[in-house]
Amino acid sequence: MTVRLVVLASGSGSTLQAVLDAAADPDFGARVVAAGTDRPGCPAMRRAAEAGVPTFAAPLADYADRAGWNAALTEAIAGHRPDLVLLAGFMRVLAPATVSRFEMINTHPSLLPSFPGGHAVADALAHGVKITGVTVHRVDAGVDTGPILAQAAVPVCPGDTVDTLRQRIQLAEKPLFLDTIRQLCLGRGVTEDHEESNS
Ligand code: GAR
Repeated sequence: MTVRLVVLASGSGSTLQAVLDAAADPDFGARVVAAGTDRPGCPAMRRAAEAGVPTFAAPLADYADRAGWNAALTEAIAGHRPDLVLLAGFMRVLAPATVSRFEMINTHPSLLPSFPGGHAVADALAHGVKITGVTVHRVDAGVDTGPILAQAAVPVCPGDTVDTLRQRIQLAEKPLFLDTIRQLCLGRGVTEDHEESNS
């Protein structure tokens, strides 16, 4: 079985690109069936479109309130029948009803539970930590609080800026994210095959 991935992203999309590239190999076990954003026209959606992947956008400003935005985004995701939803630089917090409806994982540029939120790299640098890293975790109703699936440590080097540190973190982040997706896909394949053989 090929796992159906829906990827949400708000930014430059280098993480989404890594998933698109990996999923081009049939042995990866998953394909990106859609990419969605809260920021129409962001580079991430251009990358998806260039790869021939359908995109959808739900800008928060288009809705009367956050509940309406969440409901619309949730239906847009559900319309693509995902097995797994990936947050790949998606910078908005989703409602509990959204995160509980899908199997969903996030990649975050710190060693959680340190430095949750939208400024993890700058926060780690400002705090003076000598080691930071990346965490891939399941998404729950909190901000970067879900169960941790995988982590990689990244050293902070003398003279680092937010940009140099982010680049070093992202070098570690992509293989960790891809490995975690692979593992989850393998798990799904085993479960579904087992269920099918028993039916
Ligand atoms: C990634 O490094 C990801 O960890 C981070 O945004 C970056 C997206 O980069 N996510 C968060 O900070 C979530 N709190 P990209 O747009 O190049 O994929």
